[in-house]
Amino acid sequence: MDHFLYRRNRLHAEDVPLEIIAERVKTPLYVYATATIERHYQVFAEAFADLPATICYAVKANSNIAVIRTLARMGAGADVVSGGELRAALAAGVPGERIVYSGVGKTADEMAAALRAGVMQINVESEPELEALDAVARSTGHRARVAIRINPDVDANTHAKISTGRSENKFGIEWTGAHRVYARAAAMPGIAVIGAAVHIGSQLTDLAPYRTAFQRLRDLVAMLRADGHRIDVLDLGGGLGIPYGSENAPVPTPAAYAEVVRSAIGDLDCRFVLEPGRMLVGNAGVLLTRVLYVKEGATRTFVVVDAAMNDLVRPAMYGAYHAIVPVAEPPAGTLVREVDVVGPVCETSDTFATDRPLPPVVAGDLLALRGAGAYGAVMASTYNVRPLVPEVLVSGDRFAVIRPRLSVEDILGRERIPGWMRDDERALAPAGGEP
Ligand code: LLP
Repeated sequence: MDHFLYRRNRLHAEDVPLEIIAERVKTPLYVYATATIERHYQVFAEAFADLPATICYAVKANSNIAVIRTLARMGAGADVVSGGELRAALAAGVPGERIVYSGVGKTADEMAAALRAGVMQINVESEPELEALDAVARSTGHRARVAIRINPDVDANTHAKISTGRSENKFGIEWTGAHRVYARAAAMPGIAVIGAAVHIGSQLTDLAPYRTAFQRLRDLVAMLRADGHRIDVLDLGGGLGIPYGSENAPVPTPAAYAEVVRSAIGDLDCRFVLEPGRMLVGNAGVLLTRVLYVKEGATRTFVVVDAAMNDLVRPAMYGAYHAIVPVAEPPAGTLVREVDVVGPVCETSDTFATDRPLPPVVAGDLLALRGAGAYGAVMASTYNVRPLVPEVLVSGDRFAVIRPRLSVEDILGRERIPGWMRDDERALAPAGGEP
């Protein structure tokens, strides 16, 4: 359940009418509901309550500091994949010892920052990375706690662009090569191997691939322990799917997911690290946009809105479905018609929905794109010199802008004309101007 509901025919975020936020902050903008974030965290934490588990929110899903802090206040740690995300997690108040540092391409500077912050563990994805981390740790007087990410070669049955657990993907080390890599790691003075990690993909709506991956992990733990390695921690990644409104079957619950963990690897005497991202924040956010024009094309009707692919790229990038609802609830029995909902950016991929049944809308109406709390604002760009849109957090009947809109001045003010072009300025200057 989320907290975007119609009351008195107006869509609210918790107790705040979305049209009031749109009026004050202007569209397009993201709105997040604290109550949904908290509820999702609670449901997830309860599912794992009887297992020794640390829940590390995958900051990549939504890195706004206020969002991270909402989760940190409930006890969540953080999973970070860049120096920037590390700083965001620390700024949000997540203690270093509850932070996992993941990612396939960490720089030496990022490794040093992670060690300085005293992170709980660093997930390593290749032998060259292991060597680099060993060198950084030794030169800075640390011993890095490491989980080695295993690629279990499992098809996660999700969109190819967010599938990460097959052998042809860039992630982790081949599980068949684990024996050798762990032996090398054990010999490195800057490295303390504490466990293994897997993450097979995102938006999984089927638990079977998890079962297969965890079974592989189980075999691997037995083998590594037989080799004499200490495997105390299993990091299971994230990936649990959420309903976006176009599914034919219900998506699995955190409780069902936890049961797969319990039955496959619950008895291994390991501590678990879980890295949910989308599951915690996805349905806690909407992208609020206003209709600019309704354009009757030759063969279809286009609803042109003020949000675009640079604000929410998931439909353009993955063909993702986001439910779109009017903020003013249409009267019961209103007939819908199929329209394309498109943004102002100059390419056809700037399409949020094709042939989408919507009640009649006119210029000025507000629409909410649902399920936009994860991988929405964080993936936005300034394409077409469109400023990044604001983010607003609601809690009960309060709301606050947690990131104001960037201005065009912010964007242009950071640009520089190279010296050799200053000649042009002279050339363009009126005759008799400065030489
Ligand atoms: N842990 C690792 C190592 C990951 O790579 C990811 C996501 C997560 C955890 C969190 O996964 P989640 O629980 O959110 O599924 N931009 C794409 C999703 C990319 C996911 C990347 N990795 C999208 O919009 O669908």
